[in-house]
Amino acid sequence: MSYYKIDNLEQYFKHYNKSVREPRKFWGKIAQENFTWYQQWDKVVEFDMIEADIKWFTEAKVNIVKNCIDRHLAKRGEKTAIIFEPNDPSEQSLHITYNELHEKVCKMANILRDQGIKKGDRVCIYLPMIPELAIATLACARIGAIHSVVFAGFSASAVASRINDSECKMVITSDGGYRGNKTIDLKSIVDEALDKCTCVENVLVVKRINSEIYMKEGRDQWLQPLLDAASDNNVAEIMDAEDPLFILYTSGSTGKPKGMVHTTAGYMVYTAYTFKNVFSYEENDIFWCTADIGWITGHSYILYGPLLNGATTVIFEGVPSYPDFSRFWEIIEKHKVTQFYTAPTAIRALAKENIEYVQKHPLSSLKVIGSVGEPINEEAWHWYNDHVGGKRCPLVDTWWQTETGGILISPLAFVTPTKPTYASLPLPGIQAVLMDEKRNEIEANQTIGSLCIKFPWPGIARTIWGDHQRYKDTYFSTFPGKYFTGDGALRDEVGYYRITGRVDDVVIVSGHNLGTAPIEDSINEHPAVAESAIVGFPHDIKGNALYGFVTLKETGEYRVRENLIKEINQLISDHIGPIAKLDKIQFVSSLPKTRSGKIMRRILRKIAEGDFDSFGDTSTLINPEIIDEIKDNKV
Ligand code: PRX
Repeated sequence: MSYYKIDNLEQYFKHYNKSVREPRKFWGKIAQENFTWYQQWDKVVEFDMIEADIKWFTEAKVNIVKNCIDRHLAKRGEKTAIIFEPNDPSEQSLHITYNELHEKVCKMANILRDQGIKKGDRVCIYLPMIPELAIATLACARIGAIHSVVFAGFSASAVASRINDSECKMVITSDGGYRGNKTIDLKSIVDEALDKCTCVENVLVVKRINSEIYMKEGRDQWLQPLLDAASDNNVAEIMDAEDPLFILYTSGSTGKPKGMVHTTAGYMVYTAYTFKNVFSYEENDIFWCTADIGWITGHSYILYGPLLNGATTVIFEGVPSYPDFSRFWEIIEKHKVTQFYTAPTAIRALAKENIEYVQKHPLSSLKVIGSVGEPINEEAWHWYNDHVGGKRCPLVDTWWQTETGGILISPLAFVTPTKPTYASLPLPGIQAVLMDEKRNEIEANQTIGSLCIKFPWPGIARTIWGDHQRYKDTYFSTFPGKYFTGDGALRDEVGYYRITGRVDDVVIVSGHNLGTAPIEDSINEHPAVAESAIVGFPHDIKGNALYGFVTLKETGEYRVRENLIKEINQLISDHIGPIAKLDKIQFVSSLPKTRSGKIMRRILRKIAEGDFDSFGDTSTLINPEIIDEIKDNKV
């Protein structure tokens, strides 16, 4: 019996039980039957959940790109691997076959090697959603270089800190990018970032918008002439199962972003398996995930998961609102998309527009629709299910994280009955548990707790780049021996999970994971600001938006509040990116603090939400009188 594909609910339970009773047999069989290995593993899994030391398929040798491309060539060489849909609908879309992708990736891989990039070197990729982003990423993996894709909406200082943290030797970028009716000057952002980096030796530049840009002599080169001269004959690097495949930064509740490290074999097995089952992928499907490759969703379900299964994957450069709000629906119709995977924030924004935008496009090609990135509220769930899925496509609400590599809790299309707002059941191999405040496992259903996973799965991130202690502290110490997700969840009477949201100081704004501490740090740099506290509050479209409570120094210089608000947001844009700007800023005379000096964010959160009913126990506050002042002046 094959474990790779689950066909019905009974089989799901069978596979799930097998995966818990005999995880080694379960994953070993999946790995053996569905991938090409240079050498078999010694042990399927070895782990210590106290030391946060996890290894899958030890001693195995493999190359993930050989599995994504080369092994499909005999059967699927002329099949489309990537459909590129440009920002502007009047520009032609591109169909890149597996043969062509192979050639392009091999050429790029040869260029990287020629430029001195070796196995284990880090390469920062800062590109818009164009085919070169996929090609560069795969080329790194082919030669064993560790890619660090940075979302092209991040600011120069965010790019610099990511480059420096992982000491990237090279940056691959473009002259710019299109986004709706705007262009973004990516190269000048890279130039500014590189003023703060000494590790980068080469910058390769893709021409996309034909703008005049500065090219630094001896450092920057246009990519096209190199590609024209490159050979397409490339031997892939033989990688150890546990060699790092990529680093992807995610916000933490404190301090600098965490460079999550994913390794080769486990990530490969897990993304391929979850893609196949969650979306019920079949050979001639056209899969479209609207995320950016700069986020984990794009890594796992635009690139690796689909390509590992020999699928056709859509890369869309633009935004849902350009040239108008029918863009997504038009693309589904045009390319006959069968699986459509997007974020609740996009659904909410599109649901607000005239329903005719959706109705004028037949969406009959769709078989499965998916949601990811934040809880999907009931209204958005129904709108998506009714108007996009036509009440006939299963809606898979997929819960997972940058750290988990792939989907952990989700309905499997055509297998798991869906329930609005519930991510439903854990996938095989995922031993989900809820923990109470006393750190005991909650056995009963119909309860809320902190969501943990008590056994490793192949796709789990192995460490934080350069800081294993932080990895251990963040994920394995709150509930010793278990992986703590940072999310709260409710389990219903049949064991379905509903994710209730973050239980730490991370706020999810339009599907972007934002730690409040780094935002506070950037605001506090303003000469007029004494202190700040940032919390999330519910927002119709973004899911959550940010509310900043700010105290000022007593210098009296900054009387014009409007200017101050602009300057504060500019600082945030410069340090992190425009996505982290505050929707509301309230200047307060002080922040509610406990005797030990901790800001009581719980109260600020309630005020920001407009919930003045009860502030709970405030006895530990040194300044309880401040609550009324803050409440009365809420913006
Ligand atoms: O809080 C959960 C939320 O997004 C967090 C992970 O964010 P990130 O690492 O950026 O990865 C996003 C894409 C996988 C989680 O801790 N989240 C993600 N998916 C869902 C979700 N919350 C509720 N329902 C989901 N389906």
